[in-house]
Amino acid sequence: MDTLLDWLKAHVFSAIKSAFGDVDAEPNVAPCQEEFGHYQCNNALQLAKVLKLAPRQVAQKLIDALLEKEAFSKIEIAGPGFINFTFTKEFLSEYLQKQLKDPLLGSPLPKKRQKVIVEFSSPNVAKELHVGHIRSTIIGDCLARLFEFLGHDVLRLNHIGDWGTQFGMLIAYMKEHAADVLTGEQKTDLPSLMGWYRAAKRKFDEDPEFKKKSQLEVVQLQSHEPLAFHAWEVICDISRKGYQEIYDLLDVKIHERGESFYNPYLKNVVDELSEKHLIQISDGAKCLFLEGFKNREGDPLPLMVQKSDGGYNYDTTDLAAIRYRIFVDRADRIIYVTDVGQSLHFQMIFAAAQKALWLDPSKTQVDHVGFGLVLGVDGKKFKTRSGETEKLIDLLYEAISHAKELLLERLPDMDSQERDHLAHVLGIDAVKYADLSSNRTKDYTFSYERMLRFEGNTAVFLLYSYVRIHGIWRKVGANKAEVLASHSIQLDHPSEISLGTHLARFGEVLEMMKRDLYPNHLTDYLYALAEKFNVFFRDCRVEGTPQEKSRLVLCELALRVFAQGFDILGLKKVERM
Ligand code: ARG
Repeated sequence: MDTLLDWLKAHVFSAIKSAFGDVDAEPNVAPCQEEFGHYQCNNALQLAKVLKLAPRQVAQKLIDALLEKEAFSKIEIAGPGFINFTFTKEFLSEYLQKQLKDPLLGSPLPKKRQKVIVEFSSPNVAKELHVGHIRSTIIGDCLARLFEFLGHDVLRLNHIGDWGTQFGMLIAYMKEHAADVLTGEQKTDLPSLMGWYRAAKRKFDEDPEFKKKSQLEVVQLQSHEPLAFHAWEVICDISRKGYQEIYDLLDVKIHERGESFYNPYLKNVVDELSEKHLIQISDGAKCLFLEGFKNREGDPLPLMVQKSDGGYNYDTTDLAAIRYRIFVDRADRIIYVTDVGQSLHFQMIFAAAQKALWLDPSKTQVDHVGFGLVLGVDGKKFKTRSGETEKLIDLLYEAISHAKELLLERLPDMDSQERDHLAHVLGIDAVKYADLSSNRTKDYTFSYERMLRFEGNTAVFLLYSYVRIHGIWRKVGANKAEVLASHSIQLDHPSEISLGTHLARFGEVLEMMKRDLYPNHLTDYLYALAEKFNVFFRDCRVEGTPQEKSRLVLCELALRVFAQGFDILGLKKVERM
């Protein structure tokens, strides 16, 4: 169904056309502060300039031309010429009733089912796994969930760094020190692998003999020599198991399509760029020079696609990937979730893909979703307690154990099995929510204490409100199916109307999030929902009142919006606490 905002925009648009003819104006409508009404329209101020009329006069003409005025209890011209709209209780109640029956809970059906690629997580095999990869995993999963809910065809891709010269030294080192692992006789884990990687790197820098051996291994691997290739597979496998543990704990599904997947296409990409006369040689390397990209000195900044030794790199792989995603996957939208540090890289990849005529922005939308650093409470880059970043999984287990302590303190009578379950849910939800609720482009501070607070903008607070609504239904003890079949929402009390208008905005918020890919739009919305629900619950008695049934139906809509909101954020729910 249409969102209220879209409904109003369509009406404002028709009114502009019928009052002023063929003027150039997009309906400019946005939600406004509650004391002024529900939505505000700013078109009169812009139109006044074009029409050479007083803004308030334009506003009045616009209002006069408006159809279906019975939807509003008040339409007011304010200040220099804003129009404030207030819907009637009846109109809102009816809208909410429709929203309750809508599987999309008020989001418009997509005009076309889009193929959306969300590329996220993307750690590097054997190399350091840092908390940025967890951020990417949480944010990417949330965006994928959003598009899935809205009815799109989503491909979740894990672009792991599973290829490159670093494998040469790692294989050379492991052949010397962990041969039984490479043959498969001995099992091992991700932390050991990272240890070998660090040792291999040290040796590579110090020992020219070893450096030669490593380079030889690279050549062997590239030509798929069986021993080296098998070693590579073993190494990837160990890493994969390590990541999987994190994905399982976070309940994240993702399809692996690492850098190595694009190896067969790299030469072809460079050839095609050459044929299109886009390549220039700079210091022996093949480069693309794209307009508008300059380094700090103001000199043109090249995108290198083939090194002087003939090797391909990160940029080449990303060009092959975008070409593949456009022509083979036939993506309508491609979203890349990485730290903001890589935004220049992606801007250049997008520009190059456009220049090569692979990417047509009117057909395929590409977005780099950047995020800031994770900081510790000390304001420095976050490190786990041991200072070793590879123990990333421990960070999640630690959140669970913090949640458990908190529950022991707050709800000491809870039985231990229930406590363990709840601690698991709260711990993981808290980590996810803390990340998603901060504006992603800013750095965010990781604090167990803060993310597990019972008050404020936290997962715990939201879950608590959600559980409370379940409690209302339980307390009244009514048959849900029966109540929903024979009663409808009848907004009356101001706190009830305030909750109702907010519920009606769910679809609008998801549309906004779909546009600019900020998960904190949704967390802000849910936080406000929890607060409005608490005010409603304080002011409007449910049980045993004449409005009991209609209020239960309103509670049900709140419950569904919460539940759907949590699902999109990737949060698990509980029904009691
Ligand atoms: N593996 C990279 C890293 O850890 C992230 C990959 C991002 N995706 C891409 N298509 N380049 O920094």
